[in-house]
Amino acid sequence: MRTTHWAKALLLTLLLPLAAHADEGMWLPLFVKRLNHADMQKKGLKLTAEEIYDINNASLKDAVVQLGGFCTGEFVSSQGLLLTNHHCGYDAIQSHSTPQNNILQNGFYAASRAEEKQNPGLFVDILVRMEDVTSKVLDGISATTPEQERMATVQKRQRELADNAKENGKYVAYVRDMFGGNEYYLFIYQRFGDVRLVGAPPEAVGKFGGDTDNWMWPRHTGDFSMFRVYADKNNQPTATPQAGNVPYVPKKHLPVSLQGINEGDFAMVFGFPGRTQRFLPAAGLQLTLDQTNPARIKLRDTRLKLWKEDMDQDAALRLKYASKYANIANYWKYFIGQNEGMKRLKTVDQKKAEEAALDQWIRADQARVQKYGDALSTINEAYAKMREYNLSTQYVNEAAFGTEIVTQAARLQPLATALKSGDKAAIDKAVADLKEPMAEHFKDYNASTDKKVFAALMGLYMQDVPKAQQPDVFQTVQKQYGSSMQKYADYVFSTSFLTSEAKLNAFLAAPTLAKLEADPAYKTYQSVYQNYVQNIVPKLQAAQGGLGQANRQYVAALREKNSQKVYSPDANSTIRLSYGTVRPYKGRDAVAYDYKTTGQGILEKEDATNPEFVVPQKELELLKMKDYGRFADKGGNLPVAFITDNDITGGNSGSPVINGRGELIGLAFDGNWEAMTGDLAYDPELKRCINADIRYVLWCIEKLGGARHLVDEMTIVNNGPNPGVGPAASASNVDMSDVEKMKVKTENGGKTKIKRKKDAAAL
Ligand code: ARG
Repeated sequence: MRTTHWAKALLLTLLLPLAAHADEGMWLPLFVKRLNHADMQKKGLKLTAEEIYDINNASLKDAVVQLGGFCTGEFVSSQGLLLTNHHCGYDAIQSHSTPQNNILQNGFYAASRAEEKQNPGLFVDILVRMEDVTSKVLDGISATTPEQERMATVQKRQRELADNAKENGKYVAYVRDMFGGNEYYLFIYQRFGDVRLVGAPPEAVGKFGGDTDNWMWPRHTGDFSMFRVYADKNNQPTATPQAGNVPYVPKKHLPVSLQGINEGDFAMVFGFPGRTQRFLPAAGLQLTLDQTNPARIKLRDTRLKLWKEDMDQDAALRLKYASKYANIANYWKYFIGQNEGMKRLKTVDQKKAEEAALDQWIRADQARVQKYGDALSTINEAYAKMREYNLSTQYVNEAAFGTEIVTQAARLQPLATALKSGDKAAIDKAVADLKEPMAEHFKDYNASTDKKVFAALMGLYMQDVPKAQQPDVFQTVQKQYGSSMQKYADYVFSTSFLTSEAKLNAFLAAPTLAKLEADPAYKTYQSVYQNYVQNIVPKLQAAQGGLGQANRQYVAALREKNSQKVYSPDANSTIRLSYGTVRPYKGRDAVAYDYKTTGQGILEKEDATNPEFVVPQKELELLKMKDYGRFADKGGNLPVAFITDNDITGGNSGSPVINGRGELIGLAFDGNWEAMTGDLAYDPELKRCINADIRYVLWCIEKLGGARHLVDEMTIVNNGPNPGVGPAASASNVDMSDVEKMKVKTENGGKTKIKRKKDAAAL
């Protein structure tokens, strides 16, 4: 309901209060005042729209960062202290872990700034501002502009607008399309390349419940980790970690509330949701359901089983593959859940019904037929053709590039180009560029594990993908290795220099094109890649020919037809705001879920014989003693997690959950199993956002981790349930034992005996 339908919108505002209502929606903060603020106030928001998003004064948006391009984090101190999820920090935590100093397993809190750990390559982006540039991008373009011309013009203008906004490298800027290319927005960020690891709980807390509990409610995971953003002496970003850097002073950091949550409380989530496809047509859903997801699931199943077999044999290997495994397993389970949900909720049928109604609406009016008449049939034809080649795409991504050796071989492509040119400087640069990423790769690589994966995944590729679409290398396998991918794997892994860092370095010391092109891993990669680019991509492009235009028309038609509904654009890794309330749900017939979990649930799930449900000894003791400190809830329990009906998706991980007063109450970290189709279709009755309660996070840091200095760095606004601990006494210098005594007394009528063990780890 924006630029394109402006006149209609105006008309409608006279008739209906035009505002967003449902809890569906990942909203652009730019429009919060116009579209959402009134509804947010009704739900309990006390802040003004400017306190949420303002480009001139500090507002909430300044406290929220995109972490590494894949997660969200938020500032919780004036010294650049950042909270995010454990699974967002996982790779960094794992990279600093060794079997001797296993901080992934044991947890870690920097006792001083000097102990904070640098993470080259990790960055945060902080939004400077965003702008609706639709009219600039589409200026002079009309419905009759030929599609090719439109695409070229749009791309050129997107680039120009972004380049302009970068101010010669001062900012990171890009233009993203929304609503299938009906609207365009410019985003301008500052990028900070010095982000240091400050703390993380033991993995048994940060990933408690493992893959079994992943994507599920009820949850008992302390899914948080802490970083600090560093800047130069003038508070300006540096591209990489620098010794002289100092903690960044953010424009705004979030106060942290110990007050806790009740059912129906207002909650908003700020963050960087990655991707939703709520406008994907039925034919697209169908393809995902019966071709794309089954292929992904099958190939990931295979890879994960083989990895796990080896990880279970060897502790050092388990550490090396921990992050890779968690990554692949996360979306493996997501694809399974998405497919189960699509079947159960009949998502494709629903979409078909919606399209039938849309088609009828279009047919009812000659002007609409003119504008949108071909959209749906074009879409359906396109997907029918894409279906013929889609498996190839999935197997290239998940089978060939599911092996590490093929993925690394692809990294040698720039070197091959340089070698072909014979330009010495270019060759040296290509070699130098490989050093760091390759060292990082080999640090966590086990060739014999990868060989098993290669044999299995490439075997499935040869077996499942139509013969006519297969790369030449499979003919070699058939002719020279008796069709045995195992034998071919033996050959590749005994001959390639990509199996160890020493062999690779020997090659890089005196690289020649002949040696590179003779390497069997590189040859395999070349064969897969060339086949894909030359034989598959052109077919897919032909199939998708009219799809861009048809999608754009389809989305425009839908919004025109349902002009009383305010749509939010699909997630595309740009900053969004979602709002809703703390809310339980009914999972299925006869199953009702509460909206919060407590420490009691950790004890119920605890299982010393199951690595996913081990509870660290110290946590067990604290929980059994009910030593919750000032973090207990009104009922005297330790709050652990809660759910809201905020609309989020991957990329939102680590996002702040903020109450009506703008205070941090939790960290969003997951979605629930019953709503795994949420990225494709939103169901308000089922979809929930799973959050770590901030009080559990602080308890883990202070009580379990003994890192009270980090809690003290935050701005705690303890207008919480504990009597006598009002805002004045809030911060950190309250005598804990007194506070606890008071609390326990009032909450139990003074009956409970106060048993307190000395907090051994307290600093
Ligand atoms: N499902 C969560 C997300 O995508 C990630 C949870 C990580 N935990 C795990 N057990 N893999 O944000």
